[in-house]
Amino acid sequence: MNCTKMSKRVFQLKVNIEEQGYLFEGLWAVPNGVSINSYLVRGEKSALIDMTQDLHSLTSSLEQQLEQTGTTLEELDYVIVNHMEPDHSGMLREFAAKNRRCRFLCSQKAVPLLEHFSSIPMDRVDVVGDGESLDLGKGMILRFYLIPNVHWPETMATYLEPEKTLFPCDAFGSYGAVEEYVFDDQLSDERAAFYEKEALRYYANIVATFSPFVEKAIAKLKALDIEVIAPSHGIVWRRNPAAIINHYKRYASYAKGPAEPEICLLWGSMYGNTEKSIAPLVRGIKSEGLELSIFRVPQDDLGHILAAAWKATGLVFAMPTYEYKMFPPMAQAIEDLMVKKVRNKKVLRVGSYGWVGGAEKDFRTRTAKAGWDIRESLEFQGCPTDDDLLKMEEEGRKLAQQVKEFCGQ
Ligand code: FEO
Repeated sequence: MNCTKMSKRVFQLKVNIEEQGYLFEGLWAVPNGVSINSYLVRGEKSALIDMTQDLHSLTSSLEQQLEQTGTTLEELDYVIVNHMEPDHSGMLREFAAKNRRCRFLCSQKAVPLLEHFSSIPMDRVDVVGDGESLDLGKGMILRFYLIPNVHWPETMATYLEPEKTLFPCDAFGSYGAVEEYVFDDQLSDERAAFYEKEALRYYANIVATFSPFVEKAIAKLKALDIEVIAPSHGIVWRRNPAAIINHYKRYASYAKGPAEPEICLLWGSMYGNTEKSIAPLVRGIKSEGLELSIFRVPQDDLGHILAAAWKATGLVFAMPTYEYKMFPPMAQAIEDLMVKKVRNKKVLRVGSYGWVGGAEKDFRTRTAKAGWDIRESLEFQGCPTDDDLLKMEEEGRKLAQQVKEFCGQ
């Protein structure tokens, strides 16, 4: 991997994690990989903004790219720690052993994490406050802005004043490995659409819970004249930095509803009886012309489910009763949606039961605080009758109409 020269004094150092089966944060599938970006800014002094994970050859790749710029790890004067999550800071321990003179700049809240994750001596750490700056010489002034809870409490963004470039770490990031083309203006329409999709899934998986803080951060950063957004995951936005800001604004707004005029249908079935509901539900929803995404639990990936559910205004849960409760993988999926604050949705539940049921009561109890507008459920004992299937189609259609109305269509 080669470093990318962004300007005379700014370089991007980038690694991709593309290992099959790798789970980002130990949790999220990234079938298209994920990049981790660091940035070198050179004045009379040099500063590296964020680092990388201490995984496989990532640290040596970053070191080699740094050397391509004519700088070595040992020569760095400053490391700016925007965020302490180990995908950006895991390398700090190894780095601090190699460079015994550089200073580490971070927010006050990052200090205990820096101490406990990296063992860096605290006399080498400088706390920066909101709006404070660091002058690297030759006009290269870095200014720091605290953007707490986007998505950890200690997070800050760094702004390079002369080049009007914002380094916001996780904020405005996306999944997706980044190869030759690093900048938005180098992408084909198809590739741009790819990163937009990857940004939504990244947002839903990583940032969604903290959407009110995303909105606060965007409002705060609005005061800056930003020509380039250089996040620590995904591509660099220099042709149209407003595009990714607007994507994030839109994603954050989905928490309050309505989101997009779409429905996300999750289903799980033990012996194919609840499964029989799906076709008529789909017919009913599609008769209203709405986009529909369909996932099966436990087979389908949670990260993709979350992205589709976050973006949709309507949700359908189709699951049977299992031991007097909801089908366990659906109960888990619903719990995950609630943890990620997937709120303000129009919701329908359907499903089969064998003896006396129980899924319905379990569903209502568990989702009491979900912030969902839930329609009357459709349940059937054993296999759905033809009459049940007609009702399914009708309920699918009514839910779709409700979604359209909420979306102002
Ligand atoms: Fe990319 Fe929150 O770390």
